[in-house]
Amino acid sequence: MKKFLLYGTLSLGGLFLLIQLVPVNRTNPPITGEIQVPLAVKKILKTSCYDCHSNETRWPWYSYVAPISWLVAYDVKEGRRELNFSVWQTYTTKRKKKKFKEIWEEIAKGKMPMGVYLLTHKEAKMDTAKATQIKAWTEQETKALSDKKHPKTGK
Ligand code: HEC
Repeated sequence: MKKFLLYGTLSLGGLFLLIQLVPVNRTNPPITGEIQVPLAVKKILKTSCYDCHSNETRWPWYSYVAPISWLVAYDVKEGRRELNFSVWQTYTTKRKKKKFKEIWEEIAKGKMPMGVYLLTHKEAKMDTAKATQIKAWTEQETKALSDKKHPKTGK
């Protein structure tokens, strides 16, 4: 029994060391089209969303320790793919409108910022005051985009 525990512990330790060798992509690609937002809104987005939805991710120490690092890297990759404020200007008007709608929906449903992220980022938590600001901002931006119709197609 004692031997079993010893070997078990040793092999788990070995496995832990071994998985540290798996490469993890923690890059912050260049910012090619940053979203333009009022300062107050920017502050909220930076605190609550930018770690997963921009190319300005602050990689925490545990993002260097497997297997947690794999989860963090995965969330950032998927997050950026869905919505990336650093390349926002490259989005079409249609996509921007869709994203504004989704941003508010996700916050209203309490789905974003992700619950697991809030465990280590208490300051990122949404409250009514912040949510109200985001709501007003997304509505205003959506209206501004709708007013800007294409000169030829009118869409
Ligand atoms: C810990 C990383 C993380 C944080 C922080 C985070 N998100 Fe996300 N977000 C994701 C991931 C991963 C996805 C894609 C998978 C999913 O939809 O759950 C996503 C998806 C989304 C989507 C697309 C949802 C859809 O309809 O498919 C929106 C919009 C979004 N996030 C908005 C936000 C906003 C706004 C904030 C800040 C208030 C935020 N997120 C904070 C990781 C994050």
